[in-house]
Amino acid sequence: MLGLLQGLICVSLAHSAVSVPAQPAQLAWLPPSHPHQRPAPRGEYRMEPGYSPYPGGKDAPELRMPSGFSRNIPERRIHSHNDYWRDVPVYTALSHGALSIEADVWLNPKDDKLYVSHNVASLTRARTFSRLYIDQLVDVLSRANVHDEETAFFDKTDYWTMANEREERRLWTSFYEGNLTPIQLLVDLKTRGNETYHTVLRELEPLRSRPVLVLLTGNGINLDVRSQVAPQMSRDVFLDAPLLRLDETWQGMDGGHYGWNSTLAPMASASFASATSWDGRKAISAAQETTLSQLLRTAQGRGFKTRLWSTPRWPTHVRDRVWRTLYDLGTDWLDADDIEAAAAF
Ligand SMILES: *[C@@H]1O[C@H](CO)[C@@H](O)[C@H](O)[C@H]1NC(C)=O
Ligand SMILES: *[C@@H]1O[C@H](CO)[C@@H](O)[C@H](O)[C@H]1NC(C)=O
Repeated sequence: MLGLLQGLICVSLAHSAVSVPAQPAQLAWLPPSHPHQRPAPRGEYRMEPGYSPYPGGKDAPELRMPSGFSRNIPERRIHSHNDYWRDVPVYTALSHGALSIEADVWLNPKDDKLYVSHNVASLTRARTFSRLYIDQLVDVLSRANVHDEETAFFDKTDYWTMANEREERRLWTSFYEGNLTPIQLLVDLKTRGNETYHTVLRELEPLRSRPVLVLLTGNGINLDVRSQVAPQMSRDVFLDAPLLRLDETWQGMDGGHYGWNSTLAPMASASFASATSWDGRKAISAAQETTLSQLLRTAQGRGFKTRLWSTPRWPTHVRDRVWRTLYDLGTDWLDADDIEAAAAF
């Protein structure tokens, strides 16, 4: 063993002694033969981060990019579950390319405003739906979709096409046809009934002309809400259908009978635990896979996008196995609490 090792070292030393030519390396460091002749640069110049070859330096028009607000952020079909847990709701999710976000809203009957929180204990005066979501989305969208003569030449920005905003009719019908990528905002009505619903509609007003697809979700979309939304001849607020009860029917306020379809509810969701007996600890069994696959395919066959929420968060290898399996089974949205992990997934 030792003999072999020594042999190898000897061989490699001998090899390097032979293969390194001493002469050319020394020649390159000699002063130029003519005093005015500088040697050609040999790569000793560093690339400075702020370097600009254009007049005007870093502010040169060539280097300024309108609509570049969201550049280099790939769009990801990630639903940012519990978005308001993030340091900066809306922003953090969008900066990781997640295209779907969620707010749990509570109506305070004393001031008729919506507040954002997962539970009553975390409500504060400052955390209103308007401040945390509406204002932020308006800000992001106006920065991302710049309107001026120069940018009007183009019809595409990074997140949302300019055409989206111009062709609103088309927008609402072709959101999900693949090429357009609006931001999806899920509003979970924590307090129930008419008042919360009407307050949501009122507070959404600043988003009306913008490429945001709003879906009401949660137990708050009870019969009161459904019976009002379903009969509407035109609507720009949609519902999140219950993935496990897509055959539900109800009576509308106009007396008509209604059921779930993808015009009313572009997406259908269920909690992961309610949709499958598989817990993700081991590979999914063939039977569980068939059941889950059929659930997704049946809904997709009826035009619904699909989402399973509250997938396991820990251990991370279980979380990743569930994400991967759901992805392979063709789910439309990955639901994630850890948005950084989902973005890197
Ligand atoms: C909800 O509002 C609708 C329309 O405003 C009304 O017809 C209905 O009775 C209300 N329901 C309740 C429980 O207040
Ligand atoms: C879907 O349901 C809505 C009512 O909620 C109805 O207006 C529409 O015609 C239905 N679409 C289809 C394709 O059945």
